[in-house]
Amino acid sequence: MNNKNKILIFDTTLRDGEQVPGCKLNTEEKVELALDLEHLGVDIIEAGFPISSPGDFLSVTEISKNITNATVCALSRAVEKDIQVAGEALKFAKRPRIHTGIGTSDLHIKSKFNSNRENILERAVQCVKWASKYTNDIEFYAEDAGRTNNDYLARVIEAVINAGATTVNIPDTTGYCLPYQYGEKISYLINNVPNIDRAVISCHCHNDLGLATANSIAGIISGARQIECTINGLGERAGNTSLEEVVMIIKQHNDLNFYTGIDTKQLNPISRKVSDIMRMPVQPNKAIVGSNAFSHSSGIHQDGFLKDALTYEIINPLEVGADDSKIVLTARSGRSALAHRFKKLGYEFNRNDVDVLYDWFLKVADSKKEVEDADLSKLAITYQQKNYATT
Ligand code: KIV
Ligand code: ZN
Repeated sequence: MNNKNKILIFDTTLRDGEQVPGCKLNTEEKVELALDLEHLGVDIIEAGFPISSPGDFLSVTEISKNITNATVCALSRAVEKDIQVAGEALKFAKRPRIHTGIGTSDLHIKSKFNSNRENILERAVQCVKWASKYTNDIEFYAEDAGRTNNDYLARVIEAVINAGATTVNIPDTTGYCLPYQYGEKISYLINNVPNIDRAVISCHCHNDLGLATANSIAGIISGARQIECTINGLGERAGNTSLEEVVMIIKQHNDLNFYTGIDTKQLNPISRKVSDIMRMPVQPNKAIVGSNAFSHSSGIHQDGFLKDALTYEIINPLEVGADDSKIVLTARSGRSALAHRFKKLGYEFNRNDVDVLYDWFLKVADSKKEVEDADLSKLAITYQQKNYATT
């Protein structure tokens, strides 16, 4: 791992992810998932928003008692009472972090707070000072940083670092930025905030335009060293950056020179667990954890894959804890996939046999979405009974 940069993985499945309608968890479920996340290797677990409800306060308290290695983080607004309650909920945490902040875009400043830039800057500094009564691990978020003026953002970030923030979160709250814009924003902060070396820059990207993962990667390429993400990309509206995607991009792209502490073999099991417990299905074509992520169905792909898996697969499914790759037989499949599947079922056919069987197969395939093993066995037996088989 020499010369490689560690990217901290900040998981917010239990906070931003749990905000999704229908995904609410009880304390027991949250503690169980927090332990799974710690076992997965995440560095920071955002456990909840303690002021939001007594249930969430209890969940953060119980997670704090149960987690030993990961940092446990609680969210708050830039409000003294919020921060006090977050501090109390984290009382038992071995490594407590308070995540506090305020909207910094002109839109948030005017429409949400009916305020002005100077006043918001003061409130930003104040909330970090309040948080410092409870812990010295303080993360400041500049909500809607994606649409915040860079000059003003740099002033806010410099001031909160001076006040004691050790991580500065630059959220693209509305998923608005393009990857190059988000990357440039991070570079701007690195070049224009004189004390930036005293804090870790964090990327918190939403997926409203499907760019959350790309933006987070652009952020770390520009110098950020923490990514905030969720299992299965769950989160407000179109979701947050997906943990499994950023982790595997970092692992696949050695050229980036980054690494994470995540045990990638746990990615599919934890994805299934989160999907079950939150009753939120994963789309089949979802990268890394979708049920089709390692399925091959067209003849050209199947032929290449059977000759050398690397022709059509950049990740070995076992590396991410998925079932082995699947060859799915449809009307678009070819002869080699058919012969391969017959062989798996115990039928050895020569080329001429396969030619005949392939025509039969296509008739079945055109009548249904996927040809199952039972259909193939029926074809093979009929073929053998008609004595066509030469082997
Ligand atoms: O999207 C966002 O800006 C947030 C902050 C509270 C960090 O979730
Ligand atoms: Zn968010």
